[in-house]
Amino acid sequence: MIRAATAVAHPNIALTKYWGKLEGMSRMPSVPSLSMTLDGMSTTTTVTFEGALERDLVVLNGNAAGEKETRRASELLDRVRTAAGFDLRARVESANDFPTASGLASSASGFAALVVAAAKAAGVGWDAARLSDQARRSSVSAARSIFGGFATLAAGVPGRDVLSAEPIDGSIDWQVAISVVVTTLKQKDVGSTEGMAHTSNTSPYYPAWVASAPRLFERARRAVLARDLEALGVVAEESAFAMHASAMAATPALIYFNPVTLAAIERVRKLRQEGTQAYVTMDAGPHVKVLSLAADTAKIAAALREVPGVEKVLIAKPGGPAAAKSGDRP
Ligand code: PMV
Repeated sequence: MIRAATAVAHPNIALTKYWGKLEGMSRMPSVPSLSMTLDGMSTTTTVTFEGALERDLVVLNGNAAGEKETRRASELLDRVRTAAGFDLRARVESANDFPTASGLASSASGFAALVVAAAKAAGVGWDAARLSDQARRSSVSAARSIFGGFATLAAGVPGRDVLSAEPIDGSIDWQVAISVVVTTLKQKDVGSTEGMAHTSNTSPYYPAWVASAPRLFERARRAVLARDLEALGVVAEESAFAMHASAMAATPALIYFNPVTLAAIERVRKLRQEGTQAYVTMDAGPHVKVLSLAADTAKIAAALREVPGVEKVLIAKPGGPAAAKSGDRP
């Protein structure tokens, strides 16, 4: 018996960040987060459950995945198999159409595409909330990539093990954009899971970050509802710098920025002084993401390409939800 489906999902950028997990629970965020799903860049994943396979086979961008990545995919597939009531192993083929060193979290679009394709192939009939909860169990940020436009993910509640992201309705049509400023082609060295565990274990500023994040999140949510770019940009910067400050205060310090990161931030501040609404955010890596009006991206990208050390600038508008491709057999 063969059951196959293909799904496409987009990465997302958090404008108020998730950084830190609830203790004793599996991938439950300690703070709420709000993100924009990106158009133009996507992960396409095909899942084929096959009776003849002895174990799950995962191919990422044309290469066999390592043991760790395969195990993480198998854990998600196990949950789908349990819901479907069968034990067929799967062949998973996943490819990104954006550069791996772009600083865009491929885990978000990767697990969102994987859960949508696997659920469709298995015929479990999960709705978007269930898909989001299941994606979160593999990568917290992936919960948000199930939805298009702007999405929110609440903080986890101790003792409650279900949590899904939610879309902010109608936000996909807001004419804003995020320009991804690539400041190095080298891969990051401390991943987000490891980085946030190190921060929560050793940083005296981690409790302050957790205490302040809900207020930042609420301001961002209201700003999206009001389509207020300035309010959203200002709070996005506060959230990013507060998250990075908590990481920098860890022992030893966790510094994700490089000198080009700082130069790019400085250039965005100058653009603002010159009258362009542009705001920065940075994740667990040295790249800078610039939030602006869609109409200003050409000017912003041109200015940032002039900053010495900037490798490239990719531009994205709000993108659509993760979706199965039609024509697949359930
Ligand atoms: O869920 P992860 O492991 O991809 O962690 C994401 C962490 C940040 O990108 C830094 C912030 C966020 O909310 O996406």
